[in-house]
Amino acid sequence: MIRYYIREIVIFVKSSDARFDELRDLRIGPMNTNATFTLAHLSDPHLAYHHGIRLADFLNKRLFGYIKWRLRRRSEHHDDVLAEMIQDLKRSRPDHIVVTGDLTHLGLPAEFAKAKELLSHLGSPSQVTIIPGNHDAYVDGALDCRLSEWADYIVSDGLKVCAGTDTAVNAVFPSLRVRDPVAFVGVSTAQPCSTFLAVGCIGEDQLQRLQKMLIETGQKGLFRIVLIHHPPISGVVSWRKRLIDAEALQEILQHCGAELILHGHAHHRSLSYLDIPGGRIPVIGVPSASAAGENTKRRAQYHLYRLSRKVDGWEVRVCVRSYVNMNKRFETEDEYRLTP
Ligand SMILES: [Fe+2]
Ligand SMILES: [Fe+2]
Repeated sequence: MIRYYIREIVIFVKSSDARFDELRDLRIGPMNTNATFTLAHLSDPHLAYHHGIRLADFLNKRLFGYIKWRLRRRSEHHDDVLAEMIQDLKRSRPDHIVVTGDLTHLGLPAEFAKAKELLSHLGSPSQVTIIPGNHDAYVDGALDCRLSEWADYIVSDGLKVCAGTDTAVNAVFPSLRVRDPVAFVGVSTAQPCSTFLAVGCIGEDQLQRLQKMLIETGQKGLFRIVLIHHPPISGVVSWRKRLIDAEALQEILQHCGAELILHGHAHHRSLSYLDIPGGRIPVIGVPSASAAGENTKRRAQYHLYRLSRKVDGWEVRVCVRSYVNMNKRFETEDEYRLTP
């Protein structure tokens, strides 16, 4: 067994991962200015980058994460699928793009840098909003040490984080970015956890600030979209991947309201509803942005939301763009209207 681990580590250090370089020149152009606001949601690209990694970086949970990558995840996540998604997004020209976590696979510094490159291809920080996932906080300090690299795509409007500084996740979440008529409310559930768990937790401080944020943006009549990595309702992921304080979050949402909740983490498409007084909030998950495995339910997708303000509320039309292995491109798999 020990010999197997050593062989895996050697392969890991030698492995090459240059396909992401092909994304150069795919930067998304100016976005449209139609009355309808178009949002693209993608998640969980699980970018891996293994050049020049020190053995010391793997004397923790990462060793098991890496072995899992070699045995299963490596055949599921592909940079060329992600590159094709970026091309397709470029053609769709959304007004804004959100990425709901697990940008990296092991939370390695090189993976954070690779994710930053991905973000630059998606758009400018004013056009793209991200939140972290549990894989971005894979081990203690992984996220706090590197968060400043992504800060421009994370922080609330008007805030600035100095490059190269350790940044406590709790200091910047929940985030609030208003792109009229939408308020993007980013919640972090990312935290290191033991080897066989992938749970998330929001924490009391964030929950308190979230409550205030949802009330204020609701009073302004904005379309409130809560971005969260872990699904906030039961039944979407297994117990070992759950959101620990989901009930506390549900209570706040039932009290303050929101118009839409977008999440990642599950790696499959899901649509559920959270019942609130006088209505319900759609809770929607999307598969990994880089998945091309045999399981069609887990194959890469992104979702396009077209929001229009109506006299009696909002109209939300959803377009599901799915990766088709045979054609090696994204095609529309489904289109529907969300009913509140
Ligand atoms: Fe994930
Ligand atoms: Fe996750």
